[in-house]
Amino acid sequence: MGPLSAPPCTLHITWKELLLTASFLVFWNPPTTAQVMIEAQPTKVSEGKDVLLLVRNLPQKVAAYVWYKGQIMDFHQFITAYTIDPERIIFGYAYSGRETLYSNASLLIRNVTKQDTGSYTVKIMNRMEETKGVTVHFTLYLETPKPYISSSKLNPREGTETVILSCDPDTQDVSYLWWINGQSLPISRPWQLSENNRILILYGVTKDIAGRYECEMKNPVSSSRSDPVTLNLIYGPQVPRIFSPFNFYLSGNTLELSCFVDSNPPAEYSWTINGKFLQSGQKLSIPQITTEHSGLYGCSARNSATGRERSTFRRITVVGPCHGDLAGSHSQ
Ligand SMILES: *[C@@H]1O[C@H](CO)[C@@H](O)[C@H](O)[C@H]1NC(C)=O
Ligand SMILES: *[C@@H]1O[C@H](CO)[C@@H](O)[C@H](O)[C@H]1NC(C)=O
Repeated sequence: MGPLSAPPCTLHITWKELLLTASFLVFWNPPTTAQVMIEAQPTKVSEGKDVLLLVRNLPQKVAAYVWYKGQIMDFHQFITAYTIDPERIIFGYAYSGRETLYSNASLLIRNVTKQDTGSYTVKIMNRMEETKGVTVHFTLYLETPKPYISSSKLNPREGTETVILSCDPDTQDVSYLWWINGQSLPISRPWQLSENNRILILYGVTKDIAGRYECEMKNPVSSSRSDPVTLNLIYGPQVPRIFSPFNFYLSGNTLELSCFVDSNPPAEYSWTINGKFLQSGQKLSIPQITTEHSGLYGCSARNSATGRERSTFRRITVVGPCHGDLAGSHSQ
């Protein structure tokens, strides 16, 4: 037989612990009164407007309220305080002259500026014990302004040029989002974004990322989208194609050739026969052709914006007048 081992399940609880647990149970009352809350009125406030930081569910028997800018109840962050008995209003370092503290603890801020955004803390002190009380935090956001996109270049050349798009204005406490052709940025591509997503860098713009860009500014109270900005990609041409109903024509007919290649801006076309310039334009039409019109037709496409030019060729044969036997067969 082995040594006796401790019983697997022993309740090691002392009287002291038991009493503590009991007292904890007695004093831990779930809050019966609603929680003190701060809300901004109006919820969306823009620069230059007034906002009331409304304190809801104020407890009973309050001795004083102290408002601070920020999260920390620091001397330098102290805006204003209100004491009930005697009734007094005290102004602190962080008081700008635009704040009014009401007897119900609500704080009115007139002519709101960007610097007024951010956190606020209010300490509500109890009449019995000044050290006890309620501390409530609140973050004030401004309504986001309508952003606009600035672009380093609107007509980039395919694959070679870098475009930098920025969403302005540069504002604190907002997040930036980008949209391309009405969709959020596809994840199939590694997008180069600045830390706060405000700046989008497009290295070597290709067709799949050309198009309409929009940006959005967002904070917990509002969001707004910019007008679209279109990146008009300059590309091409690759080798053009010649379209012709036939390779063989009968003399006397009309020779019809056309040429096409994808290019932006659209290519300028010109035609040659056997290396000699014929005419400009996308279509070539020669009526009443003769065997002299046989030859190697060339189409060249040029994009003045990319400086690129490409050519293609097609051999066309014009068959002469019918031989006597054919020609005469239906003659009288
Ligand atoms: C507190 O007082 C202000 C100013 O009189 C008022 O606009 C606001 O509604 C009051 N707040 C509450 C919670 O009653
Ligand atoms: C609001 O503040 C701006 C500067 O921040 C000032 O130019 C303007 O006169 C103020 N408006 C009012 C109504 O006080």
